[in-house]
Amino acid sequence: MNTEPKRILLIIGGGIAAYKSLELIRLCRKAGIAVTPILTRAGAEFVTPMSVSGLAGEEVYTDLFDLTDEAEMGHIQLSRIADLVVAAPATADLIAKMAAGLANDLASTALMATDKPVLIAPAMNVRMWQHPATQRNIATLKQDGVLFTGPDEGDMACGEYGPGRMSEPADILAAIMRFYGSHLPGVPHGPLTGRKVVITAGPTHEPIDPVRYIANRSSGKQGYALAEAAIALGAEVALVSGPVHLPVPPGVELIQVETAREMLAAVGGELPCDIAIFCAAVADWRTAADAKQKMKKDGSGKVPSLELTENPDILKTIGHLKKHRPPLVIGFAAETENVIVNAQKKLKAKAADLIVANDVSHESGVMGGSQNTVHLVGKDDVESWDKMSKQAVARKLMDRFAALYIERA
Ligand code: CTP
Repeated sequence: MNTEPKRILLIIGGGIAAYKSLELIRLCRKAGIAVTPILTRAGAEFVTPMSVSGLAGEEVYTDLFDLTDEAEMGHIQLSRIADLVVAAPATADLIAKMAAGLANDLASTALMATDKPVLIAPAMNVRMWQHPATQRNIATLKQDGVLFTGPDEGDMACGEYGPGRMSEPADILAAIMRFYGSHLPGVPHGPLTGRKVVITAGPTHEPIDPVRYIANRSSGKQGYALAEAAIALGAEVALVSGPVHLPVPPGVELIQVETAREMLAAVGGELPCDIAIFCAAVADWRTAADAKQKMKKDGSGKVPSLELTENPDILKTIGHLKKHRPPLVIGFAAETENVIVNAQKKLKAKAADLIVANDVSHESGVMGGSQNTVHLVGKDDVESWDKMSKQAVARKLMDRFAALYIERA
């Protein structure tokens, strides 16, 4: 990229997560990235301008109509001085302004006026995050090319639980470093440096009604281990994950989804990429009816029957893409019998380049367990590996995928 010292324009919005932005400034500066901070009026309710400018070692810009600032540096100029504009925390309000193109304070004006890429770290209450208006705005911003990190899922300051927590400062730094095509300190450049890997992982949950869902026993361990292994090879990794209880490997961009349809949309949003790995145990079916209310017993003892409909096949969809088909498409096959033959059929039907087949019969203990025995099924050959930990399988698989990718590139 450029040879000038790295610089970001950091917009600190008005959310409780603003305190984490202080740590982000510290981490950025430690990583050799200068930070020009803009603190919104609401942001200043959570952190003081003095602590922000103290940590950044620079003046903090606080208001559009501050004549002194305007005299020193106009907001247009301010919006252009950095390589990247980062909004963290990006509140529901700031996101809505960005999506609507409003420019009524310094932060929103800088975001409108900039000609530089924008990375945002959303932070808000879970209901606000899930609100259709926010989701609409997020989709608009993704279309506009805005980069995202988070939000994470977890306990919130407001006492609720769910997605909406701002990414940890180290993860925001990782996203910034990915933008610069560089890597976290301690992570070596590897064969996949500058390459993007998209991985699906975990189960999907298909709602029956607002309280019940169809699910499966996938723990997500294999997919998360692959994400970690891909990072270690230098890749930029987007992990599209169904509901699981696993820590996110550092440096990985996590996109949380629930249903197969959401997973397909999320994968589509990450294209183009270099390698796509479909490790998720996607539910093949969902209920045909979209019950908005909880299904109730009517007292007659009659048992309801569930009509099912087929979910989209994500691997098959991506494997058959004409435009933006990743150069390397890897599928998994979960089988309880005829493992190899069934995997060969899937390779063909889903237009994958390679299928990693495993025996998921109850006796194998693979589903939810920490070990795996895999067979690499290609067009003309099959290679069977010994039983190993899912981490070891992941490292070996990623080495193999990297070699295959380079061979074909
Ligand atoms: N897959 C997918 N979308 C689906 C179903 C499966 O992307 N709706 C992917 C899985 O992530 C895996 C591969 O397809 O990479 C095979 O999944 P598997 O569950 O083994 O096979 P299915 O296609 O579901 O077929 P069946 O359940 O009949 O074995």
